[in-house]
Amino acid sequence: MSGPTRPHVLLSVAVSIDGYIDDAGPDRLLLSNAADFDRVDALRAESDAVLIGAETLRRDNPRLLVNSEERRLHRIAAGKPDYPVRVIVTASGELDPRLKFWRFGGERLVYTTDSGRDRIAGSLDGLAEVVSLGDAVDFEALLDDMGKRGMERLMVEGGGSIHTAFLAAGLVDEIRMAVAPLVVGDPAAPRFLGPADFPGGPQHRMQLAEVSRIGDIALLRYLPKEDSDVG
Ligand SMILES: NC(=O)c1ccc[n+]([C@@H]2O[C@H](COP(=O)([O-])OP(=O)(O)OC[C@H]3O[C@@H](n4cnc5c(N)ncnc54)[C@H](OP(=O)(O)O)[C@@H]3O)[C@@H](O)[C@H]2O)c1
Repeated sequence: MSGPTRPHVLLSVAVSIDGYIDDAGPDRLLLSNAADFDRVDALRAESDAVLIGAETLRRDNPRLLVNSEERRLHRIAAGKPDYPVRVIVTASGELDPRLKFWRFGGERLVYTTDSGRDRIAGSLDGLAEVVSLGDAVDFEALLDDMGKRGMERLMVEGGGSIHTAFLAAGLVDEIRMAVAPLVVGDPAAPRFLGPADFPGGPQHRMQLAEVSRIGDIALLRYLPKEDSDVG
């Protein structure tokens, strides 16, 4: 029996030439240029949900909004809410309700574990819907739940642990990778992907669907699934 239709999963990342997604310092390293940040804004506007891991929330304190008013109005004209649903994944439930993420934008969802839900308890009341997926966060169950909510397009914005989990589970339909012309060179900095048993192993070649240039950024679009059709 087939389950609910899962959303299309688009994994979005900006990397340095040596594969890092940040440096090891306390402030977020800006890898994209202005035009590329605007491209990311457009991708968010096309999504029903935008998801990050709890560590990115804790470290970067992002708002994860659609900044362009024109794009928000376009969403409203299409019968959608002005912002995509913003989603956090946490096993621990260690989420600070004072972060600005909880103060801006529209609907928010937190996927967590039973113990994470207990830890969150009432601290996010009125700020987010908290959904426990049991003893662990099962990403297939997470996508099934999104499918039941009618979400058709999910944008996964990182960080590395979250990207690794989605890709290792074979759940990614496309990767949009912006390569920035800088080198981080610090082994303490986070990488795009960590070690994992990725589907097909190192022999599996993804399909390269697109290469384009955005100023000094190279944008690559990969289709990771074996049965992907370059469109
Ligand atoms: N360049 C880019 O495009 C980009 C984009 C986003 C982020 N970043 C960078 O990425 C770095 C953070 O990456 P990160 O890998 O440390 O953290 P992350 O992927 O943002 O978040 C990791 C956290 O997500 C939760 N999580 C991850 N996998 C889980 C699973 N299987 N089950 C349940 N919960 C799970 C856990 O939260 P709990 O600890 O609460 O359990 C875990 O600690 C930051 O430096 C940020 O700036 C870069």
